[in-house]
Amino acid sequence: MPYGYEEWPKLSLESFKLGRELNLRSIKVGSINYDFEPSNIVITGMGGSGIVGDIVRDSLWGHNIIIHKDFNIPKWVDSRSLVVAVSYSGETLETICGALDALRRGVPVVGVTTGGRLASELEGRGAPVVKVPKAIAPRFGLPNLLYAVLGLLSHYLTIPEIDESISVQGDALRSELPGRLASFLKGYVPMIFAPIGLQAVAYRFKNDLNENSKTPAVVAIVPEADHNDIVAVMLKHPVKYIIIRGRTDDVHDYLMRAVEEVVKNYSSDVEVVELKGSSRLSQEVYGSMLLGLVSVKLAELYGIDPVRTDPINTLKEKIRGINCPSN
Ligand code: PA5
Repeated sequence: MPYGYEEWPKLSLESFKLGRELNLRSIKVGSINYDFEPSNIVITGMGGSGIVGDIVRDSLWGHNIIIHKDFNIPKWVDSRSLVVAVSYSGETLETICGALDALRRGVPVVGVTTGGRLASELEGRGAPVVKVPKAIAPRFGLPNLLYAVLGLLSHYLTIPEIDESISVQGDALRSELPGRLASFLKGYVPMIFAPIGLQAVAYRFKNDLNENSKTPAVVAIVPEADHNDIVAVMLKHPVKYIIIRGRTDDVHDYLMRAVEEVVKNYSSDVEVVELKGSSRLSQEVYGSMLLGLVSVKLAELYGIDPVRTDPINTLKEKIRGINCPSN
């Protein structure tokens, strides 16, 4: 299978080790001390790197984990925070600016990247960096980035069900759903319903559809979607519905069944994707792999190259020379 999906289990283990092996608590950068209990963890990054933060936030639900997808980090972030700056290439300006802004303000920062400017800027200031293995494109390096971040955070938090999250990857690889779902979606705009506690799967699927399949997609997160998105089912649009069903808590599980019933009352173009695994981490990793496979199969059906993302390259080129925001 191309695009490296079959390597995910091995890369997950290796990358967790890489993150874990960096003895963060022994690090000091000037007056910034990494041996502390962070009152919050801010995970920065864009696109295929940014989704790592969403998965970590859902997986470690209940902890104070904030996702930041922009340049300079919010004003309230201070030396009691830990900033984890994730950029596959290390060349993403938003992430570089955020990391440097944080260090300047005395906030502990750790980078997760394959190298690039992020690595050299951080290392040049003595700040820690985990260098992960390369992949065919940033989003295909999800296990490399995600498990390195989990390894790092394991110095501060307990990470549940790491082993299970790796073993469910085999189930996703063996599933026949991707081929069927790709044929179902061809020629339509996917509308993806998911519960809030597993929202990263829906956003990851949307991003993979955008980038790999060059397809627009709508994400509808329950319960908020019960108050707006759901009304769109009343008209016939060129849309196919995907319901992501997992396990979070009784109320949200019940709400997702209710949404499924309502959508099916209006449309027969509905597919339900059942996530495997007992923890949120396992379910999100399983869903990310399974639905990633759908996106590359859909690209095959369209006869396009999943790896090419020309407009992203054009936009990155356009902003390359600009300065970080000054505040
Ligand atoms: O998957 C992709 O190619 C993009 O979404 C990138 O991840 C995004 O542009 C950010 O780049 P990087 O991951 O190198 O920081």
